[in-house]
Amino acid sequence: MFGNSKDLLGIRDLPKSEIIDILDRTVEMKKIIMSKNRRTTDLQGRTVNILFYENSTRTRLSFEMGAKMMGSTACNISSSGSSVAKGENLIDTARTIDVMQTDILIMRHGNSGSAHLVAKNVNASVINGGDGMNEHPTQALYDAYTIRDKKGDFKGLKVVIVGDISHSRVARSNIWLLNKMGANVSICGPKTLIPAQIEQMGVKVYNDVEKALDGADVVMGLRIQLERQKGGFFPNVDEYAKVWGIDEERLKLAAPDAIVMHPGPVNREVEITSFVYECEQSVIDEQVTNGVALRMGLMKKAIER
Ligand code: CP
Repeated sequence: MFGNSKDLLGIRDLPKSEIIDILDRTVEMKKIIMSKNRRTTDLQGRTVNILFYENSTRTRLSFEMGAKMMGSTACNISSSGSSVAKGENLIDTARTIDVMQTDILIMRHGNSGSAHLVAKNVNASVINGGDGMNEHPTQALYDAYTIRDKKGDFKGLKVVIVGDISHSRVARSNIWLLNKMGANVSICGPKTLIPAQIEQMGVKVYNDVEKALDGADVVMGLRIQLERQKGGFFPNVDEYAKVWGIDEERLKLAAPDAIVMHPGPVNREVEITSFVYECEQSVIDEQVTNGVALRMGLMKKAIER
């Protein structure tokens, strides 16, 4: 259970105590995935089904690997190759999977609110793997685990999120979460990619990346969705990289022990350079590893009801 809900749909309504419980569980799961015998019986006899209407590498595979390491079956269903392609609607598809005796349904869909809609129509615990531009709660949770692991606490940390904030469910979930935990969150990007009145979410807005990075403890780049260029949100990729990209020189403006994060997939030399991706301050690969552990803890928590 997640608070008093069978589902994990977003960070916005998740109590701080639940976030701390999830991060603590990840510590234990990380020990398991880093051991030589990556097996538990936590999900033995349980069924996990993964329904994705959008592409994914990290989210989909980490849930599948995690479920299998915990003794569950885990099946994948994509919109292409399933009866979605014959016109079956989202609720009917989800209910079909549900009545096959699914315990946990992991889903990703392009429409904001889709996970909430499905959760109301199924008995399974629904875990939101990303819904439109709304939330990507599991990403924010493992980002938080990674920050706590490296920095010890969130209180007073300057976290700077750089990129396309408007279209980013990762940014929204991270802002909700980091504010709850007491960090100081700043955002930075082209004005065309910053939502109006975002300050109401409790963030400071910069329109100069060098000022934003000054003294930052955590630097988080976001993927520029290249299709946004067609929408006229920025002139071209080279210009974006020149004005907003994080390179070696810009990273020096952050605190000397700042960490670099990115949810992936990365457009190298656009939002961050290869140097920054691979430098000692980068925890991008660790984020991915932590994602497996965190999602294992979430699935274990989901069946406790
Ligand atoms: N960060 C993230 O959600 O990556 P995938 O799209 O590869 O799952």
